[in-house]
Amino acid sequence: MNAHEYAAANASRFLDQLKDLLRIPSVSTDPDRKADMQRAAEWLADDLRRIGMPRVEIMPTAGHPVVYAEWLGAGETAPTILVYGHYDVQPAEIEAGWTSDPFEPIERDGFVYARGSSDDKGQVFAHVKAAEALLANGGQPPVNLKLLIEGEEEIGSPNLSSFVDKHREMLKADVCVISDGGMASMDQPSIVYALRGLVGMELEVWGPAQDLHSGQYGGTVHNPVQALAEIVAALHNPDGSVSVPGFYNDVLSLSDEERAELDKTPFLEADWRRATGAPQPWGEAQFKLHERVGARPTLEINGMAGGFYGVGFKTVLPGKALAKISCRLVANQNPHHIYELIRDYVKLITPPTVRSELRLLQAGEAAFVDRHTPAMQAAITADEPGWGQPPVFAREGGSIPSVADFNHKLKLPVILMGFGLNDGGAHGPNEHFSVQLFQRGIQTAIFFYEAIAKQ
Ligand code: BES
Ligand code: MN
Ligand code: MN
Repeated sequence: MNAHEYAAANASRFLDQLKDLLRIPSVSTDPDRKADMQRAAEWLADDLRRIGMPRVEIMPTAGHPVVYAEWLGAGETAPTILVYGHYDVQPAEIEAGWTSDPFEPIERDGFVYARGSSDDKGQVFAHVKAAEALLANGGQPPVNLKLLIEGEEEIGSPNLSSFVDKHREMLKADVCVISDGGMASMDQPSIVYALRGLVGMELEVWGPAQDLHSGQYGGTVHNPVQALAEIVAALHNPDGSVSVPGFYNDVLSLSDEERAELDKTPFLEADWRRATGAPQPWGEAQFKLHERVGARPTLEINGMAGGFYGVGFKTVLPGKALAKISCRLVANQNPHHIYELIRDYVKLITPPTVRSELRLLQAGEAAFVDRHTPAMQAAITADEPGWGQPPVFAREGGSIPSVADFNHKLKLPVILMGFGLNDGGAHGPNEHFSVQLFQRGIQTAIFFYEAIAKQ
């Protein structure tokens, strides 16, 4: 029995195992889930040991631990593949619109529903099972395998950059493969070659030293909630572009060839409507929807708070107001530089009647992958048998902060082969993962390792 046959023969057991992993509520952002994070790391480490990885470690970081495993039995002349993924998940409460318990996976219509099923437990576990299939029955994978599964991706990977610095030698490889994204449809494989970067900020505006009676002082004090709204509203132009001077300076424009490739998987307005429920598209009209998401930077108000918004009524003139703001960035934009541009512009447009401060919370570079490497060719080859057709290249709007480090610090070509579906409910209610794509993902991972070995 070869690895492909083994994976097919063990498909239902693999799925049961995935369900066990999905039962662990490894929500990285929730301090009350710290023990569950550890439990998920141990669960993965145990499975990696069971499948025969000779080195498996739970490596501590300043935050949640990294699970690392390697098998170097293919020898020094064979290529080494670094698989990256994450075992942490986004929060999920049943009240948010789940039709079943987010941490009690159930199967419906060929999908398994649970938080993390698609992002990213199901996808990274496909690689673990590909490794199992190759190691089974005394088998010899054709490549050396290193698996790096972290627990802090959903909170911006704050400790992975220093982890990479500290373990450069351990992480040495020839190619990095990541399955943590979506495809446009079930029958069309895609390879993502661009992910957006991210800057996270908070903007605080103060007026009076404390909350005031709006009757006694209203009309004489610049209300900080109003001032914040004015500042925030001034960050975009009426055409939907960002008004911060210099914001677009480093943005690379799409080549005609890229445009044509991206047009193969259009983001149709009908799908957009179904997915968002919003009445009408908004944004830079000269760019198509998928271009706006994949190739344009944005500035988003994630939330605003200030004053009184409880039940009832209060005639208060609030003392301060706060906004959380983030930008999605594209290749070539430096997150720290973008933060400075916004900080300076906010300073400039803050009226003398209030004070403001823009604080940096998070920064991650965009990822941009060369589509013409041998590793990319191997990925294209690997997609053929599973789907019967070659992949299209796509740009994604989401972010995986560590990709830039794998690229720049470890000098690795990164292959982003997602096995999820774009409408798989990641981060939202009723997240689901196709059972068929889980199996196809395992087969594709094996084909990919084999194709890399042949090069
Ligand atoms: N897997 C996603 C990123 C992603 C989404 C890639 C869609 C491709 C298509 C990842 O887990 C994620 O959600 N990233 C966060 C990063 C943030 C917390 C720094 C994101 O994009 O918001
Ligand atoms: Mn993910
Ligand atoms: Mn995510």
